[in-house]
Amino acid sequence: LSDMLVDSFGRFHNYLRISLTERCNLRCQYCMPAEGVELTPSAELLSHDEIIRVADLFVTSGVDKIRLTGGEPTIRKDIEDICLHLSGLKGLKTLAMTTNGLVLSKKLPRLKECGLNALNISLDTLVPAKFEFMTRRKGHSRVMESIDAAIELGFQSVKVNCVVMRGMNDDEICDFVEMTRDKPVNVRFIEFMPFDGNVWNVKKLVPYAEIMDKVRQRFNGVERLQDHPSETAKNFKIDGHAGTISFITSMTQHFCAGCNRLRLLADGNLKVCLFGPSEVSLREPIRAGVDDAGLREIISAAVKRKKAKHAGMFDIAKTANRPMIHIGG
Ligand code: GTP
Ligand code: 5AD
Ligand code: SF4
Repeated sequence: LSDMLVDSFGRFHNYLRISLTERCNLRCQYCMPAEGVELTPSAELLSHDEIIRVADLFVTSGVDKIRLTGGEPTIRKDIEDICLHLSGLKGLKTLAMTTNGLVLSKKLPRLKECGLNALNISLDTLVPAKFEFMTRRKGHSRVMESIDAAIELGFQSVKVNCVVMRGMNDDEICDFVEMTRDKPVNVRFIEFMPFDGNVWNVKKLVPYAEIMDKVRQRFNGVERLQDHPSETAKNFKIDGHAGTISFITSMTQHFCAGCNRLRLLADGNLKVCLFGPSEVSLREPIRAGVDDAGLREIISAAVKRKKAKHAGMFDIAKTANRPMIHIGG
């Protein structure tokens, strides 16, 4: 293995997140402004072949987990084909997807055949009318169906991502925990993070400690599980529950020291940190005919520039980044 994926703090990056599209079939408030975002012209988006080439290079350099994101990855027309080719890369252990679940359930059997093995489905409310308000679209029941379909098809792992926002869905925390009583899913409460265009405000952030207090007041037998050192989540089990709950504490207790993640955006930029504005284009050298050795050097140099940790929530909120819909989480 080369040292392409090792940064200057010794962190080895074995997890690549690939954003497949900047488009989405929902308009979630925490992710994008109501008026939408500017889309990269389609000629400047990576093609199927370019994605596979870059992914192959990462996998031969040590990446063993790829997560497909967006926008909404399921609306990309060649999604099955992309899964098929990625899952065939030698050395890849996990092919995961983060999706809003809106048009997922009918695609799931085929996606599973194409090698997708882990699913994170976003769901921020159990109340249909609130879903429509938060996402500016209809579709709550379809997302619920997708969660059930994923469980039924026996995916290796099914997680439900819930971004907690004060005054919006913080009254539903215990209902989400209740969902894990019978469903073998991992419900993850996520601290609201600032991105361009999402009108972040510290008052809307519900800190991990506060969410946990609510859970402990209602449920007995909440027990911390052992987390993997580079996990984004702190994991817990609850006595008698089929599923588990977790917390993603990016704002109040960052987990940058164990970071193992890199991001390939839909326009072919490599982003080494979710909150670092520094990006490098891989598309341009690829289209100029760079060979793999040259591409490796560009990637390695970008990884070596990665910072130790993000700048803290108030600085992040002031620094220009991209809208979340371009980054994919
Ligand atoms: P698993 O692979 O199942 O652990 O999922 P994941 O947490 O890596 O990915 P997912 O797309 O489900 O993201 C869940 C939340 O974690 C989202 O809010 C992401 O923005 C956030 N997240 C993912 N990766 C990072 C990261 O590197 N840093 C920070 N601060 N947050 C992250
Ligand atoms: N803060 C925290 N999480 C977010 N997500 C989208 N926007 C934000 C935000 N501002 C979550 C989505 C999805 C994952 C990719 O990131 O809900 O589950
Ligand atoms: Fe990694 Fe940056 Fe996320 Fe920290 S904020 S965990 S360094 S991607």
